[in-house]
Amino acid sequence: MAYPKPAPKSAPIAVEQSPQGLRRWCAARRRAGERIGLVPTMGALHEGHLALVEALSRITDRVIVSIFVNPTQFAPGEDFALYPRSEAEDLAKLSSMGVDLAYMPAPADMYPAGFETQISVGGPLTGVLEAVARPGHFPGAASVVAKLLLQAMPDVAAFGEKDYQQLQIVRRMARDLDLPAEILPVATVRDAHGLALSSRNAYLSADELNVARQLNKILAATADRLRNGASSALACAEAERALIEAGFTGVDYVSLADPETLAPLPLLTAPARLLAAARIGRTRLIDNIPVHLP
Ligand code: PAJ
Repeated sequence: MAYPKPAPKSAPIAVEQSPQGLRRWCAARRRAGERIGLVPTMGALHEGHLALVEALSRITDRVIVSIFVNPTQFAPGEDFALYPRSEAEDLAKLSSMGVDLAYMPAPADMYPAGFETQISVGGPLTGVLEAVARPGHFPGAASVVAKLLLQAMPDVAAFGEKDYQQLQIVRRMARDLDLPAEILPVATVRDAHGLALSSRNAYLSADELNVARQLNKILAATADRLRNGASSALACAEAERALIEAGFTGVDYVSLADPETLAPLPLLTAPARLLAAARIGRTRLIDNIPVHLP
């Protein structure tokens, strides 16, 4: 069933901080027969996050956005303390989109004293790419997503293809744990130059932004080479050279992978995903695109 796009609301958005408050709010909506959508975020909201909200407002009655900079998915030395925080602007954006509830727990609400449980998805999905570059990241992210899904019990939860490996891991976890929520993937939102929108783009200077905008172009050129029959070893090595030449200071990986398991593929013989992670100074950017057969 299609729902009309909600009219923008100017009223201040409702905010819940405690898991109990969220549970009560959701239970009342469910009793009223309403379908609930959840968008988990870490805030510093941009058009990419808002596309997830938009996708859910079309297919549910109520949309909840959680804003929680989850400490357990940052490794020591990563940017947890620096991560951009803009609560007032975030709430204004959500309010103007007609979002029904912002869920903003504090770390002590999510991780009270004595908290000891972690969800770790196994298999090839967590043996490659981001899982290798950022050990501990996915157990932290999967665990907080599981908690959010269990606290809100939404009918649907939306995740961006921007974080492609995270999306696949969340899908795997939801299936394996029989979590009742449908996981809805949403295409990556980009700026006019093709740069994938990211809260971390806020770290970039004007010069660095110009370098960052080469990432999607180099991925597109690499996809063309792969479609023309280049081996992935050759095409990905060439992409790494091109990234350094464009001004990236380091490349963690460029990989042609199976779109579900993310296992590396030597050649483009079936629809695949091309994924990359590269650094400009202390800022780390990731991006990915589908690669179809010629
Ligand atoms: P965050 O980086 O804030 O992203 C929240 C959601 O927005 C994710 O599903 C992400 O893939 C999506 N997103 C980000 N940029 C996007 C873009 N340019 N286009 C489309 N979608 C985009 O991902 C996280 O937070 C956390 O790991 C979280 C899932 C909230 C768990 O803490």
